Amino acid sequence: MPAVRIDVHAENRDYAVVIGGGLLRRLKDLFAEHNISGQSVVVTCRTVWQRHGHLLRAVTGRTPPVLIGEGERAKTLATVGRIYDALVQRKLDRSATIVAFGGGVVGDVAGFAAATYLRGVRLVQVPTTLLAQVDSSVGGKVGVNLSSGKNLVGAFCAPALVICDPTVLASLPARELRAGLYEVVKYGVIRSRELFDRLSARLDSLMQHDAAELDPVIAECCRIKASVVEQDEREAGPRRILNFGHTIGHALEAVTRYRRFKHGEAIAYGMIGAARISASRGLMPEADEAALDALLRRMGPRPPVVDLKVDDALGAMTRDKKVVGGRLHFVLSAGIGHTVIVDDVSRRELRDALRTVGLRR
Ligand SMILES: NC(=O)c1ccc[n+]([C@@H]2O[C@H](COP(=O)([O-])OP(=O)(O)OC[C@H]3O[C@@H](n4cnc5c(N)ncnc54)[C@H](O)[C@@H]3O)[C@@H](O)[C@H]2O)c1
Ligand SMILES: [Zn+2]
Repeated sequence: MPAVRIDVHAENRDYAVVIGGGLLRRLKDLFAEHNISGQSVVVTCRTVWQRHGHLLRAVTGRTPPVLIGEGERAKTLATVGRIYDALVQRKLDRSATIVAFGGGVVGDVAGFAAATYLRGVRLVQVPTTLLAQVDSSVGGKVGVNLSSGKNLVGAFCAPALVICDPTVLASLPARELRAGLYEVVKYGVIRSRELFDRLSARLDSLMQHDAAELDPVIAECCRIKASVVEQDEREAGPRRILNFGHTIGHALEAVTRYRRFKHGEAIAYGMIGAARISASRGLMPEADEAALDALLRRMGPRPPVVDLKVDDALGAMTRDKKVVGGRLHFVLSAGIGHTVIVDDVSRRELRDALRTVGLRR
């Protein structure tokens, strides 16, 4: 696939998302084309740097990267503090660029550092997981977790450029790829039957990292995310459709203390629950609910939920950020490709959905 460019019109800055196999080999040119000059510092984690660090040398030269810990545990204010220290040590000034090179965790933490260091320096996102390429690197949300909850501190920081090179996904463990694919399924359900059908038809090739299939799918997801966030950068309304499957999904993550599921796996369960409520209200055709269920099943095993209690999940849901003024906003499907947001989902509907998902009483 030739490289694709998607222009995102954000509140404070317009930026491009470029997608294409091998783009990182022309990093220097890309920076020049997008007027990114001055000193660049890469923030990354060990795994990504060891496997793909050589691709960034063109812009970093011999400056060593700022390495942060692996995974969700590293998404803290303490890590942000260590990034600030490293930036000061390297004498970074306001004309500098932070290059976030890694999964969603690196993007969120390095992005938060970029949003706040010297009241803001330039950020380039170079996502290396499927989830980060289709979701977290686009839209400008950055932030960290507190011990009391996920993503409780954050900022909006539109990047200057997002570079998605799907070739780096080749080293991604199968479970991480699958976790990202669940979010891809979500894009199909909320906005595009064509994408959903393509996933159903080409699932095997996608799961084998077939570039001819994967690259255009990533581009389509970025297009959908870009068009949704453009309408509503700060999530006052339409951006909420991106939360399809996330109300129940977040509850499952919370009751298992974020240890059992990859985010996408919890969202897969959440989508099954949301589809159940949608179909029981007659909003979503039962055939669409069945098609979603079948696709998710084909994607492989997910960690179990049978030992989790419906009441615990319900408790977690009422503490969720999506409760606004005491009302739980819930994204439902009006058939694959269409969504509606409601605020009148009853406890009974939630209980039924959680049982369909597989939780016990
Ligand atoms: N800002 C947003 O809008 C937004 C949206 C969705 C999710 N998120 C956040 O994203 C985070 C999850 O991101 P994630 O799923 O990318 O997880 P992650 O960043 O923890 O990465 C998962 C693992 O994959 C490894 N990895 C990354 N790239 C690799 C590669 N190319 N090859 C081999 N290993 C690689 C990482 O080292 C890590 O161990 C969560 O914290 C979530 O809150 C943010
Ligand atoms: Zn998500």
